[in-house]
Amino acid sequence: MAEAKGKLKRDRFYTEEDADLGLIKDRPIAVLGYGSQGHAQAQNMRDQGLDVIIGNVEDRFAEQARGDGFEVVPIPDAVQRGRVILMLIPDEVQPAVFKTDIGPHLTPDHTLVFASGYAVHFGLITPPDFLDVILSVPTCVGAIVRERYARGQGIFGHFGVYQDVTGQAHDLALAVSMGIGILRFGATETTFGDEVAVNLFAETAGLSGMIKYLLTAFEVLVEAGFSAEKAYGETFYEIQFLTESICRMPFGQAVAFGSPTATYLALTKTGDVVTEDVRERMRQMLARIKAGELVRDWNLEQLAGCPVLNQCRREILEHPISEVEELFLERKLASGGV
Ligand code: NAI
Repeated sequence: MAEAKGKLKRDRFYTEEDADLGLIKDRPIAVLGYGSQGHAQAQNMRDQGLDVIIGNVEDRFAEQARGDGFEVVPIPDAVQRGRVILMLIPDEVQPAVFKTDIGPHLTPDHTLVFASGYAVHFGLITPPDFLDVILSVPTCVGAIVRERYARGQGIFGHFGVYQDVTGQAHDLALAVSMGIGILRFGATETTFGDEVAVNLFAETAGLSGMIKYLLTAFEVLVEAGFSAEKAYGETFYEIQFLTESICRMPFGQAVAFGSPTATYLALTKTGDVVTEDVRERMRQMLARIKAGELVRDWNLEQLAGCPVLNQCRREILEHPISEVEELFLERKLASGGV
C-alpha cells in the first residue's frame, strides 16, 4: 500500500463556512421519528433556531419528544406541515410508512432528507420525481451526535444529492448538515449508493470483524486454561486503550506506543493471525453488498420473523464473557471510568 501514498482519491471536507442555514430557516422541519437520530437531530436543529415539529406514532418515543418540549403530530400531518422532511424511522420500516403516510402528502416544495442511502439506493422507496431528495448522515449513534453538539463539538458525516429539481439540492444538503451539527466537524460529499456500501461494509466486514476477533481471542485464552479475568482484561478491556490512542494520535504512533517488546510483537506478527485471505473475503463481502444480496437476505429474514437474528442475539448474550464483563463494567464505574 505504501506506493499509493500521495495518490489516494480524496474528498473535499465541507464545514460550516460552506453552508447557509438561512436556506432552511423559514421552512418548517418535520422530523419523522424520535429515536436514536430523531431526538438528536431535532434538538440540534431547534438549538439553532429552526422551526421543528415531530411526526411520530403514539409510542414511548412520542412521549419522550413531548417531554423534551416538542409538538408531536401524526406522521402524515407532520409531512403536510413541514417543508424539510427528515426521514428518521428505521430503514426496514421506511418503505411501508413512506407508501401510506409520507409519499401521498409530498408536494414539489418539500425537500426529502434521508440519513441513510439504504431504502432509496436499493429501490425499496422510489421518491416522486418532482422534489429534491438529499442525504445528511452522521457517522455515529444519535446519543453521541447530541452529546457532542451540546458540548460545542461536532461529528464527521456525509451529505449527498439523489435528485435535484430546484437546482438548490446541494446547498440544501449542506444547510441540513449544518442544522444537525455535522459541519462543525466536517462532512464529505457522497452518493446514496456509496454511503450505503461503505456503511454496510463497516457493519459486515470492517469494524464488525472486531466482534468475532475479540470473542475468538477470549475463547482461545480461556480454552488454554487462563482465567476469565485474564482473558477479558487482555482483550475486551485492553482494546479501549488502543482505541483511545487512535483518537489522540496518528495510527502509526498509536500502535507503536507500548514498550519496544510490545511494539515489536504487535507490528511484526499482525499478518500471522489476520492473514491475506481476509482481504479477499472483504472484497467478496463488498461485492455482495453492492449486488444487493445482503439487503435481499435481510428482507427475507424479516419476513420470516427474524429467527437467525434472534438466535445470534441469544448466543452473544449467553456467551461466557457475561460472567466477567459485569465485574469489569462495575469496577470501571466504581473507579470513576466509563
Ligand atoms: P430508531 O430505531 O431509533 O427509530 C425509532 C423511531 O422510529 C421512533 O420514533 C419510532 O416511533 C419510529 N418507528 C419505529 N417503527 C415504526 C413504524 N413501524 N412506523 C412508524 N414509526 C416507527 O432509528 P435510527 O437508528 O435513529 O435510524 C433512523 C435513520 O437514521 C435510519 O435511516 C438509519 O439508517 C439512520 N442512521 C442511524 C444511525 C444510528 O446510529 N442509529 C447512524 C446514522 C444514520
